[in-house]
Amino acid sequence: MPLIEVEAVSHTYPAQSRPVLRDVTVELNERRVGVIGANGSGKSTFARLLNGLVLPDRGTVRIDGLDTRRDGKRVRQLVGFCFTDPDAQIVMPTVAEDVAFSLRRRQLQGRALADRVAEALRRFGLERHADHPAHLLSGGQKQLLALASVLVTEPALVVMDEPTTLLDLRNARLIADLVAGLDEQVVLLTHHLDLIDGFDRVLVFDDGRIVADDRPASAVTAYRQLIGAGR
Ligand SMILES: Nc1ncnc2c1ncn2[C@@H]1O[C@H](COP(=O)(O)OP(=O)(O)OP(=O)(O)O)[C@@H](O)[C@H]1O
Ligand SMILES: [Mg+2]
Repeated sequence: MPLIEVEAVSHTYPAQSRPVLRDVTVELNERRVGVIGANGSGKSTFARLLNGLVLPDRGTVRIDGLDTRRDGKRVRQLVGFCFTDPDAQIVMPTVAEDVAFSLRRRQLQGRALADRVAEALRRFGLERHADHPAHLLSGGQKQLLALASVLVTEPALVVMDEPTTLLDLRNARLIADLVAGLDEQVVLLTHHLDLIDGFDRVLVFDDGRIVADDRPASAVTAYRQLIGAGR
């Protein structure tokens, strides 16, 4: 597992006066890390720090010793990022082409490339959709495609920002089971609190700070108390 080191990070977006992250320090090397918290508490901004999509105003972020500010390119080879809306991530016309596009920087061609793409599609149950238009997939299938396209590059760490928010119960279950079975390290942000059951560690964000850092049950209790929902 790569070590994630976030050290004294504060961040204010341009044209805003209020910081979105305030002096956040945390080290993570667990296999499954959940991130929960109210809307606007800074979770997505935190997630985007991890692959250098957001560079902090203050403080440093290192993944496996690589500083996101200095080694952004290498960091992005280590860290795959899944957005909430898989449409934002689909770039090619067909399902197979989309997965192949993720491998464009690898020295893979012809049969070797086709085999690698086919294997990724099989892993996510999309093999029968290889030549289908990607934008015509269902929401759940698009989410699976986004995961396939990210995981085919073999990132050490996968960051998922609310991967089940747009999905129905069945597809949300599908993604949850899939996430549970991944070998890769996962940092997962969610409002679906059952998704983080069994996780190793859960961070609770509130107003730009980590206010609880615990096992899932205790973290969820802390979050419920925070928003006044009781236990
Ligand atoms: N690109 C941006 N430019 C300016 N402000 C932003 C940007 N992205 C987020 N913000 C602001 O930063 C704050 C924190 O947003 P963030 O997306 O990190 O919260 P979140 O915890 O992920 O919320 P949610 O649960 O709604 O996804 C919000 O007030 C938001 O308006
Ligand atoms: Mg968010």
